[in-house]
Order: sequence, then structure tokens, then C-alpha cells
Amino acid sequence: MSSAEPQPMEFAPSGPLTGAARVPGDKSISHRALMISAMAAGRSRIEGLLTGEDVMSTAAALRAMGVGIRAEAAGAWEVDGVGAGALLEPGAPLDMGNSGTSARLLMGLVASHPIAATFTGDASLSRRPMARVVRPLRRIGAEFLGRSGDRLPLTIRGASPALPLVHRMEVASAQVKSALLLAGLNTPGVTEVIEPVPTRDHSERMLKLFGAPLEAAAGAGGERRIRLTGQAELRPQQLRVPGDISSAAFLIVAALIVPGSDLRIEDVGVNPLRTGLIDQLRRMGGNIDLTDPREVGGEPVADIRVRHSRLRGIDVPQEAAPSMIDEFPIFFIAAAFAEGATRTSGLAELRVKESDRIAAMAEGLRAVGVNAAEQPDGLTIEGSGGAPLPGGGSIDPRLDHRIAMSFAVAGLHARRPIEVADMSPVETSFPHFVATLGTLLQG
Ligand code: S3P
Repeated sequence: MSSAEPQPMEFAPSGPLTGAARVPGDKSISHRALMISAMAAGRSRIEGLLTGEDVMSTAAALRAMGVGIRAEAAGAWEVDGVGAGALLEPGAPLDMGNSGTSARLLMGLVASHPIAATFTGDASLSRRPMARVVRPLRRIGAEFLGRSGDRLPLTIRGASPALPLVHRMEVASAQVKSALLLAGLNTPGVTEVIEPVPTRDHSERMLKLFGAPLEAAAGAGGERRIRLTGQAELRPQQLRVPGDISSAAFLIVAALIVPGSDLRIEDVGVNPLRTGLIDQLRRMGGNIDLTDPREVGGEPVADIRVRHSRLRGIDVPQEAAPSMIDEFPIFFIAAAFAEGATRTSGLAELRVKESDRIAAMAEGLRAVGVNAAEQPDGLTIEGSGGAPLPGGGSIDPRLDHRIAMSFAVAGLHARRPIEVADMSPVETSFPHFVATLGTLLQG
């Protein structure tokens, strides 16, 4: 969060969403673009980088460790990579702000460098579990001292040389997988990560693009084995970051629920490990088309057309969770407008995101007049059948950008305006969210 002052804002119906929009660069890919460029010796150039606070936390931390990073006048970013093994010890604690991806992935990088670094974060990040990355990184020889549960603030002393690791993932987490692969870049020998359930593979795709010796193979029962040979030289690249499907998600649901909407969102990353929301919304009757599919920088990209639709409640299969893990808050808003009940389960991970997203959404939905029943690992939501929500109420987004944006969207089809008590967390991932919405509402 940038400002200490909360920024309350009211959202009320103001007509259909029409026309075309772009969303900011993908947050996951932007973090990786900076970190992997930092591990190549020489200058990389990145277009479309997200300039939200989370990615800027990664940039500031890398700068503090000797990496040159600057914005060009035309909006692209240049990174003067130092090469794996050459990060410098930072002179002050590294502030991760609200960003779990910065914290966990950078811990992986530091873990195989002969340096010490202290990681701090905001109140939300300081509550989040870090043991999932700390435990395997201890096995490569890195030392950690954090608060109970290995939470931030936390100090790490990296190992040199680090030991190669074979790790079977305990929770489905692209952040843990990526932390281990990034640690593997400066580790002699083969680092192997086994994922029982595949998660977003942006790290694997980008590492390959930079020339890292990495192989991913499908195994029995859908598991994936990723093998990276360490201490290979990465080649600097020219990259283009696609639009963030997780930001597009808010516009997609807004267009589905507001009558008369017909919207095009251009240049969105549609990696199949990220598009679970679109699959589930289509099952509910959502009219969503992907047009002009193409590949940019090793990632699938398309334009997305969405039209207002009558949605029906569904049961979301648990297997869908990793491919829409960040989209559940806005998916629950879509469910609030469907005919009948929508049931989700197997979502305990949502309780340790930027906020406890199950509790935050249950509380918020009830505050705006929706019948939502909370279970330990999911929500059951009774939809309005397309009618506007009763609305009213004020939502505490609990320092969570996606909770704030979800209720902003709900306010666009409600009988009384919905207040979001603080929109400032939105700066972490979608800096021009309110302005983009405003443009589309005016057609
Ligand atoms: C991310 C992975 C996911 C996601 C987060 C970004 C990434 O977290 O929720 O917003 O960039 O790797 P987990 O790895 O904790 O599932």
C-alpha cells in the first residue's frame, strides 16, 4: 500500500461496459522477468512490465543487491543483469511491501548466494506463511531466522555452494516451485521439483527462453517433474509481458453481470494454467470468446470478448483451483448474480493469501445482501438470478487488492451503492483500475 491514508470509494450502477480495454502487464510474469534478467549477464529489455507496487518491491530489492534496473522514456525497462552468483549483499532490509511473490521468489535467489539479507513486509505479508519455502531452502544449506512459523521479518544467510535438491511439493504453489528453481540457477548439479498438481509455469517458460537447461516432463497421475541444471549462463533477452488475466478477470465479470455490456480486452496472457476462471464462467453460461490466439515471448496471448450473460450456479471441481487461484474473490461475485447455488471446496489456501479470502468474501457478500455460507475450505453462494444485489454496506478489503476490486465490480449492479473502505491496495496489481472501469462505462 502506497499511502498511509485509506482511500474510501463508492461504486454504483452507471450503465453497460462497452468498447475495448487493455490491462496492465501480468504480475507473475513481471516479477520473473526482473529476477531472471538479473541472473543473465548483460542487458535485457522488458516491454509491458507491470509498474504496480508489488513488482516495484522486486525491482527495489534487486537494485539493493547490485542489479541495474531503470525505465526508458518509451515505457520499456532495462535490466543490467549481474549473472547467477553475483548478487551483492544488501546494505539494509529488503521491504517486500504486500508482495508474497517478491518475498518467496527472492528468498530462493538469495538462498544460493553467499550473502545475508533481511526481508520485511506490511501487516498482511507479515502474517503469511513462509515455512513452505524456508523448509526446502534449508535443505540446500541456507540458514533462516524468522518469527514463529518462519514469518517476516526474516533474515536469510545463503549457502555457497548450495546443494542440489529433489523436492516433492506439499502444497500446490508456483511461488515455492519458482523459489526452488531460482535457487537452482546458482547451484551445482540438478535441482528437481515434482509437482503432484501443475501450477502456473511462467518460470519454466522464461528460464528456457533465457537458455537455462530445463526440462519439464509429465509423469504418472498428472504430476510434473521439472529438472534444472545449475550454473549455466543465461543469455539476456528482449521480452514482452502480456496483459494480466488476473486483472482482466475483474472486467470480464463486470461485463458478464451488467446488462447490455459487450467488451473486448486486448493482449491478455491466456496460459492454460491461468485460465480456470474462463472455463468455469463458461460452464455457468458466460459468453466469453478468445480471439486472435498468438504466442508472445513463450506465453500464449489472445484478445477476450465478453458479453452480458445469464449465469447459472455450478459446483466448481477442486482440480480447477490452481488455474484460478487468484480469481476466486471475483468468481464469488459472479456466483452472486447466478441463478441458484454455486459451491466451491478444497480452497483452504485462500485463507493465507493477501487476506483470508474465504472469510473476507463471506463477510462482504453478506454485507451487500447475498446469502453466503462459509465452510473451512470454501463458500456456498445463493445467486440473485441476474437481479441487482441489495447493495449498501461498507467493505473492509483487509489490505487485499482483489477483495477491493471484487466489491467495486459488485457495486456496478446493485440497488444501493457499495462502499469500499480503502481502494489503495489496488495499486499493488492494477494501478489504473478505477480509470479503466470509468472509460468502459462511458463506452
Ligand atoms: C503466484 C502464485 C500464486 C498466486 C500469486 C502469484 C506466482 O501463489 O496466488 O498471486 O506468481 O507464482 P501460490 O504459489 O502461493 O499459490
